[in-house]
Amino acid sequence: MSKYAGKKAVVIGGTHGIGQTIAKGLLAEGAEVLVTGYNEKNIEAAKTVLGANAHVVRSDTSDLGAIDLLGKTVEEKLGQFDYLFLNAGTAVLEPFSIVTEESFDRQFNINVKGAFFTTKRLAPLMREGGGIVYTSSVADEGGTPGMSVFSASKAAGISLTKVFASELLPQKIRVNAVSPGFTDTPSMGVPGLSDEEKKGFSDLGDAITPMRRHATMEEVAGAAIYLAADATYTTGARLPVDGGLGAGLSYPEA
Ligand SMILES: NC(=O)c1ccc[n+]([C@@H]2O[C@H](COP(=O)([O-])OP(=O)(O)OC[C@H]3O[C@@H](n4cnc5c(N)ncnc54)[C@H](OP(=O)(O)O)[C@@H]3O)[C@@H](O)[C@H]2O)c1
Repeated sequence: MSKYAGKKAVVIGGTHGIGQTIAKGLLAEGAEVLVTGYNEKNIEAAKTVLGANAHVVRSDTSDLGAIDLLGKTVEEKLGQFDYLFLNAGTAVLEPFSIVTEESFDRQFNINVKGAFFTTKRLAPLMREGGGIVYTSSVADEGGTPGMSVFSASKAAGISLTKVFASELLPQKIRVNAVSPGFTDTPSMGVPGLSDEEKKGFSDLGDAITPMRRHATMEEVAGAAIYLAADATYTTGARLPVDGGLGAGLSYPEA
């Protein structure tokens, strides 16, 4: 029998990248999956890639009205469900001296407010034994230049993970976070980069990651699925999937 047959999952930000890979992994093991995204072209593409067993729903995670409507859609399509992935995220690389209010609000609205109010709306629909996973970042610790707002938003996400983990103990729902390093997704977590900027960011990742390579989407998605479904005695934890970057390791010199 498939490992996740009979299980139901919601992946916020599941139309491409790590979220889509989480959805594919769950679908391959028999789960019923509902994914969300906002960009209409990506929604249509995801319907084709994920196939008939996936529900693909357009829902802006930074909009409280849309989150409430999503709750109704989840009730209709899934009823009660088991796993919630708070994966939608965005980043802008810029020194703090040029950050605008619009850029600050956009990152916090998606990475923090969306995760908060989605959990508030959807957690009551979750079954005992279920798991919530917040996709954070290696940048939720440390002081990487150019990532002030993004880092602060992901640190806030870790904080929410721990408090939600406490408050959901009576409901027997575990809440954990995965903190990826540089991961090969179409956006590399920073939507809107030019090809040249993306190459620069990617090269930086190769240079500073102790394992000297990026993560595959499968490596990060596998860790997220493990936390949601299989880590039955783990809650309030942050799992780094970052090639040793956050641990401060260095590659041995010859
Ligand atoms: N890739 C990396 O190197 C890396 C590193 C550290 C952390 N992360 C984190 O990992 C997560 C996934 O990253 P990724 O690289 O896989 O990103 P991605 O490919 O850009 O995918 C992000 C997903 O979130 C959705 N999304 C964005 N804004 C949304 C909104 N307002 N409402 C609903 N959905 C929205 C996107 O859908 P649309 O098509 O609508 O945009 C997409 O499905 C993010 O939280 C990111 O911060 C990534």
